[in-house]
Formats: sequence, C-alpha cells, structure tokens
Amino acid sequence: MLVAIPLQEPLPKIYNELSAEELDERIWYAKRVLGERLVILGHHYQRDEVIKFADFRGDSYKLSQLAASRTQAEYIVFCGVHFMAESADILSGPHQKVILPDLNAGCSMADMADIDQVEECWELLNEALDEPIVPITYMNSAANLKAFVGRNGGAVCTSSNAPAALRWALDRGSKVLFFPDQHLGRNTATLKLGYRLDDCIVWDPFKDWGGHDPEDYREKKFILWKGHCSVHGMFTVEMIHKWRREVPDINILVHPECRYELVSIADYDGSTEYIVKTVSAAPPGSKWAIGTEINLVHRLAKENPDKFVRCLNENVCVCATMYRIDQQHLCWALENLLEGNVVNQITVPEDIAHWARVALDRMLQIH
Ligand code: 13P
Ligand code: SF4
Repeated sequence: MLVAIPLQEPLPKIYNELSAEELDERIWYAKRVLGERLVILGHHYQRDEVIKFADFRGDSYKLSQLAASRTQAEYIVFCGVHFMAESADILSGPHQKVILPDLNAGCSMADMADIDQVEECWELLNEALDEPIVPITYMNSAANLKAFVGRNGGAVCTSSNAPAALRWALDRGSKVLFFPDQHLGRNTATLKLGYRLDDCIVWDPFKDWGGHDPEDYREKKFILWKGHCSVHGMFTVEMIHKWRREVPDINILVHPECRYELVSIADYDGSTEYIVKTVSAAPPGSKWAIGTEINLVHRLAKENPDKFVRCLNENVCVCATMYRIDQQHLCWALENLLEGNVVNQITVPEDIAHWARVALDRMLQIH
C-alpha cells in the first residue's frame, strides 16, 4: 500500500515579500514565544539560513534519538526530509506533533523502494530460497517499508550503525535483504565486514526476478535493492584522483552512500555526524576533500578556518529536496503554531507506525 504524500500548498504571498532579516526576526520571535513547547531539529544538510534556528543538529541517527528523547516538546519542527519527520512521529509521544515545514521535502532514494515491489521481491525470494532472510532498511526509506521490515524480523539502520545492523542480521539469518541504498549495503558488507563483492547481488525491482536467475541468489549473502542517492551518486573516482594529484597531502573523506569504487579508495568514510566530528577534531593545517552534500561542506569550511576544507565535487552538489526547507516555510509553520494552527503535520497511521517503531527501536538498540 502506498502512503500518499500531500504536496505543499503555496505560502501566503507575504512570506515571499519579507526580507531575510525580517524573516529572521519573525522566526526568532516565534521561537521565543513558543519556548519549551517547541523543539527544532535540523539535519546537517540544511542551509545555514535554516540550521541556525535548530535547537539540535545531527545526522539521521542522532536526530531520531533526539526525537525519541525530547518528550517535553509539544511541537517537533523537523528541518530535514519526509522520511525523517515520519521517523520522528513514530518515535515521539502521542502528545507530540511533528511538522515538516515544506511537504515537498522528500528523498529520491526513499522513493526508489516502493512497498508493492518490496512485497513481491520478498515473496519470490522466500519461495525460492529455503533459508532465513533478514530484511534491513536504511533510515532513508518510507514508514511503510520500515513497518515491513519490523513485521518480518528485521531492523532499520543508519549510516552510523550499518555495520552493527548487518552483523545483527547475520546472527539471525543466513542472508540479508538490504533496502534501498545498494551502495551503503555493499560498502558496509565488504569494506566494514570483510565480505567479497561477489557475496552481494543487486535486486532490480523493474526486472523479472530482480534481473537474475532465481538460483543466482542462493550463493549470495547480501541482496541489495537497486536504489541510490542522487547527490552522492555525482561523485566520481576521477575527482579523487584529481585532488590527490593537485594537493598531495589531501585527506579524502566520503559518505558511504557514495559508490564502492570511491569509498574503497577514500582515506575515511562515515555518516554526516562522523564527517563533522572527523574534520572538527583534525589538526590545524590539515586538508580535506569531502564527498557529501555541499551545504554541510561549506559550513565545515567556515567552522574550521584553520583547515583546508573543500567539496570533492567543486560544482554544486546540493540535495534539492533538503533545500526546499527555507526561512519562508519555517517562518510560516512557526507563525501558524503561534496562532494555534498546526500545519504540515506528519502522521503515520498506527498500523504502520506500530511495526515501524519495532524496527526503529531495534535500530536504537544496535550499536
Ligand atoms: P546520514 O544523516 O545518516 O549521514 O545520511 C545522509 C543523508 O543522505 C541523509 O538523507
Ligand atoms: Fe535523499 Fe540523498 Fe537527499 Fe539524503 S542526500 S535526502 S539520501 S536524496
């Protein structure tokens, strides 16, 4: 079953007429008046004009822990994308309301795993293979996929705990079916857990039997859904070579949503939170080319003026959907709260939320 995501209604004209300074003032005012009733969570990829209002910043893992622990706030305004707000709704209390300032802030990777295709794949694999398969989904997936995984003995993982999640799965079954990011699945299985590339096989939901002979799955340990992140997909191996040629002591640091060919030759890889910590803790004078979303890289460069920090791809490499959250939408959402109107509330139906919570709770237990 597809959970329809309503599209964002146009904002009242006034929000597009206000200057950046006026919007700032109005947002700070609404924050002050709402006080403890409000918590604003911001993903590292948000632009500076928005992230400065966040009470907490983090990667998807840290933000989901925060959503589960800020029990006193009546409103959780999530400056991130739809799947993150859904997870916050599932993990927060029944008295809390989660708000996504722009409903068009989705994630193309999450959209690549449609639940009907997932169910079909699961049925086929279970019919053909007489062995326990454990489904794991990356946080970057819709709530109905998280629920599917919870119902079928699996868990959610993030880029922070993916190695632990795959180990957890292999303690419970002999194969892992990993959604929706084939790259995170492959990089974790091979580069973190030591399996061979040949232990992985990709399931293409648009081909019969995922594009392989049913027998081909028998030999494999990791069945990877054919999904990817369009932002991290823009980085290439040649970009790494170019940096190394031009700046010999450069450190290459990439997100594990990048392709295996890159991650396997990078100096470091990890979640956005890991990237922030690594660069912040690096010695003055050190040099970094970072393969992740550009708003985060630019912020790291500003916050670490004693280091050389650049994006691996010097052309713009922005997450267009994260970028939809702007001052206008944030101001509009908060001013509605001041008036007692909850706009853009993200609610996951309880039958889906129950099993998604099971899968997310497992994620929070896996370290
Ligand atoms: P993390 O926040 O888990 O590092 O993932 C990055 C990302 O692409 C979020 O959408
Ligand atoms: Fe989705 Fe990639 Fe954007 Fe993250 S960066 S929200 S995975 S499209």
